[in-house]
Amino acid sequence: MKEDLAAIQAEFATALRSAGSEKDLTDLKARVLGRKGSLTAVLKELGSLPPEDRQTYGKRVNELKVHMEEALDAALRALAERELEARLEAEWVDISLDAGRREVGNLHPTTQIQHEIEDIFTSMGFDILDEPHVETDEYNFEALNIPKDHPARDMQDTFYLEDGNLLRTHTSPIQVRGMKRLGPPLKIIGPGKVFRSERTDASHEFAFHQLEGMMVDRDIKVAHLIYFMKLFLSKVFGREEEVRLRPGYFPFVEPGFELDIRCLLCRGKGCPVCKQVGWLELVPCGMVHPNVLRAGGIDPEAYSGFAFGLGLDRLVMMRYGIEDIRHLHGADLRFLRQFR
Ligand code: PHE
Repeated sequence: MKEDLAAIQAEFATALRSAGSEKDLTDLKARVLGRKGSLTAVLKELGSLPPEDRQTYGKRVNELKVHMEEALDAALRALAERELEARLEAEWVDISLDAGRREVGNLHPTTQIQHEIEDIFTSMGFDILDEPHVETDEYNFEALNIPKDHPARDMQDTFYLEDGNLLRTHTSPIQVRGMKRLGPPLKIIGPGKVFRSERTDASHEFAFHQLEGMMVDRDIKVAHLIYFMKLFLSKVFGREEEVRLRPGYFPFVEPGFELDIRCLLCRGKGCPVCKQVGWLELVPCGMVHPNVLRAGGIDPEAYSGFAFGLGLDRLVMMRYGIEDIRHLHGADLRFLRQFR
């Protein structure tokens, strides 16, 4: 029996060393310690030994059993650890790897300036209106005191649609829509795209951006117009702006003006940007024509108002010293990234 024990132990040790999987280990356990296992058989035989042998021998068998169980457990643990390590190795991800920089977009400079101007005017109590690009002849021209065959229609070459509508040539239709929608008194601005059938060059595009403004109330005078324009321009340019009004002709305002500011570059001395005059033409504006108030459903005897139309792209060009309007909407990322 002693020999049996030695043989069982030796065999166990060899099998344990060559066991490579969990299954190998459970098989081995069954072969030795299972119901029909070799060591179990020895244990069963213990009963038939004389009592004095039974004690010493039994002790040895039990020790061996405990030793084997511990060895098997240790082998199982080691195996699990090796498997975990293998998995970690296989599934290793280098989180420090540079994934490349994600591009983050930015608002177009025209949109940026539009938002700034919206903030300025809303802080002064103006409402913002967003009106259609496709307009009727009525809103774009007739209601603005520009009847058919009026020579002023030539000032704005128009894209006509087949159904008789057109792409608005300016944001001024927003004046009439605003008056009808809100009634007097009102303070509104209306930014957006406008379209003109024009040959493009450094200062002309067939689609560009304007921002219309209008205030209608009792006793509105030119002084109100000047006050709001100066206030707004000082906020946009961040300093007190000197302005002047020259007569300007637009059928929907009377009197009509061109509002100039002191040249941003030379401050009035004369330079190539202002073509030596010292002033820059900036905002066409004027007092709302009685016919336009009427078209908007407002009694010109009771109310008066001013209106202006800002060229947003032109403002961007002046602010950043951009010499060609076509850069603005050429969709060239190298250009646009400068305005992050
Ligand atoms: N709508 C005119 C244009 O586009 C500008 C303007 C607006 C002039 C409001 C006077 C008052 O040329």
